[in-house]
Amino acid sequence: MLEVGQKEIDAVAKVIRSGQMFRYHAGGQCERFEQRYAEMLGVRHVCMTSSGTTALTAAMVGLEIGPGDEVIVPSHTYMATAVAVLAAGAIPVLCDIDESITLDPAALAKAIGPRTRAVVPVHMWGVGCDMRAIRRVAKKHNLLIVEDACQAVGGDYRGKPLGTLGDAGAFSFNYFKNMTCGEGGAVATNSKAVMNRVRTMIDCCNAYWTGRKADVQPFVSNGSRASEIEGALLNVQLDRIGGLVSRLRKQKQRIAAASVKAGLTLTPVHNPEGECATQISYLFETPAQADRFAELAGGTVTGKTGRHTYTEWDAILARRGSHHPALDPFRLPANQKCRMEYGRDVCKASLDILARTVMIGLNPRAKAADVTAKIRRIAGAAQAVLR
Ligand SMILES: Cc1ncc(COP(=O)(O)O)c(C=O)c1O
Repeated sequence: MLEVGQKEIDAVAKVIRSGQMFRYHAGGQCERFEQRYAEMLGVRHVCMTSSGTTALTAAMVGLEIGPGDEVIVPSHTYMATAVAVLAAGAIPVLCDIDESITLDPAALAKAIGPRTRAVVPVHMWGVGCDMRAIRRVAKKHNLLIVEDACQAVGGDYRGKPLGTLGDAGAFSFNYFKNMTCGEGGAVATNSKAVMNRVRTMIDCCNAYWTGRKADVQPFVSNGSRASEIEGALLNVQLDRIGGLVSRLRKQKQRIAAASVKAGLTLTPVHNPEGECATQISYLFETPAQADRFAELAGGTVTGKTGRHTYTEWDAILARRGSHHPALDPFRLPANQKCRMEYGRDVCKASLDILARTVMIGLNPRAKAADVTAKIRRIAGAAQAVLR
């Protein structure tokens, strides 16, 4: 949770007092947020969901990705990125990241096979992927792009909001994200047909609430609707996001300048002006240096978060793609020609980079003196590690 205060409390209280916590009513909070967020992103359609995971799954389903398809995902992301591919019935194929800790476009080009249908660039840790190169590869091979912008709310790539550079984008508003409503998510797309499927995917009874439409073909799905409480929270959070991201960027710039002076190497960033990171990252020559720096400076080795690297995705490594074997995409006849390689060594280059990268958290509420103290600690750690 970065910034939540009295305004959110008031907005939630108002919804509770109104007695209208269910979304579908004219002028409701969810509807308002979807319209405002679409406007901010510059897309035609936004649909709120219950989480980033359900948003990603609905985006896959919206784009008709399913059994028989491979979808390329980075080796370092929250497991939900790969889980969403499986939830749609398709198979995730792992691909290396580069030193920016986002999908390596050269590795992407090499990872494409005859069954590859889509790629998921993940704007990891609030840093945009090299979208120009990724889009070039995707265009050449006719791949769909589903952006995982779950960690990138408020960021952009060359002036275009992250999450709007592909065929569909997914966002998370969980507790840890730049914009939060506790748990929540959203899908953004310019395609009405995709949005119709997304809305059906996140609410099996959507047609009953909003009216049956000739251009919407119903299918069985689950319930991942958002409530008016989440809508109310997000309408307040939307007013905060611009200021929050700009403070984070300024703080990062100050720490970055001092870090470079101290001899540290910053993690490369494809579009520094557009990032919305809540941490600053450093690259070291050896894992031992990274470990020591993390300890002294109060950071985390990026490969040691315990859940963001493919080697920790237990259910996928065990190829248990569903609660029931008959529904498991790994066992479906349609998927038997897809690649299913999840050994520890499949993305060795990523493991090497991740073991040498250290992240240190930023705090948008930090006072100038707090930042000065952080800089001193970082410089001290650099001196001990680099000498
Ligand atoms: C990159 C990424 N993708 C997907 C998700 C899933 O979002 P949620 O936790 O809202 O389901 C997260 C959440 O942490 C994430 O960081």
